[in-house]
Amino acid sequence: MEFNNILFELEDNIATITFNRPKVLNAMNMETALELANAIAACKENEKIKVIILTGAGDKAFVAGADINEFRNKKPSEIMKFTEAGHSALRIMETMGKPTIAAVNGYALGGGVEISMACDVRFASETARFGQPEILLGLIPGWGGTQRLARLIGIGRAKEFIISGEQIPAQRAYEMGLVNRIFPAEQLMNEARKFAQKLAGLPSFAIKMAQYAINYGYDLPLDNANSLEIQCMSQCFSTQDLEEGVAAFLEKRKPHFIGK
Ligand code: COA
Repeated sequence: MEFNNILFELEDNIATITFNRPKVLNAMNMETALELANAIAACKENEKIKVIILTGAGDKAFVAGADINEFRNKKPSEIMKFTEAGHSALRIMETMGKPTIAAVNGYALGGGVEISMACDVRFASETARFGQPEILLGLIPGWGGTQRLARLIGIGRAKEFIISGEQIPAQRAYEMGLVNRIFPAEQLMNEARKFAQKLAGLPSFAIKMAQYAINYGYDLPLDNANSLEIQCMSQCFSTQDLEEGVAAFLEKRKPHFIGK
């Protein structure tokens, strides 16, 4: 795969997508949004890939939001294409059935927060900073920020975050539940890879069913959501990994999962 704005590496069943526009702090332009969608589609199709890590090039930024250079003299219809491209890429990523880890290594602003929120988990360096600063430019988040942030940290905090445009440090983001774990900057990628390796060794179909039940159940009435969970849980009994997990526990040995 050829990309101009991202780096794509595959090692030990783990794909790493690195946003690579350091001159603009890895800001997202239309081309990068389309490249992200293509990279995610490739991850979804490739059976060797079990886990995906997303990070930013350099030590200053994960993604500093949309590329503001592309906002000059734009019509609503042109901006709509950009927001649709972002939404589409992030929803495919969120629902592809493989775990994703955002390794937030610096500024995660605007689209940076939005990309990280479409990942299953967010690890951050102690030096990372988070914000939805769109309001300061006269716009609002357009890649899911108004929706995923409220779902993740609650409507009151999300409104405060979005209508003020203020930035917060990693520690505050952790306290709010926006970030799962924080590490010293030099340990971030190692920790993300360690966690990815752990996930890669777990039963992949069960992970997919867990994501499915959470992603598609969250906005349903409880009875419907519980019914979805019953279906997803039952489907796990179609796999060899389920048989192996149960047998290994009962035989008091380590399981060996094969992803089927
Ligand atoms: N779009 C386009 N260019 C961007 C950018 C963005 N979102 N964020 C940073 N850049 C560019 C800067 O223009 C600068 O370019 P230059 O070297 O040609 O002048 C370069 O990246 C470095 O950024 P700079 O502002 O000099 O770094 P800083 O350390 O002083 O500040 C930020 C860092 C992230 C606080 C600041 O760049 C910023 O506020 N960026 C915009 C964030 C934003 O509003 N995102 C949401 C967009 S909807």
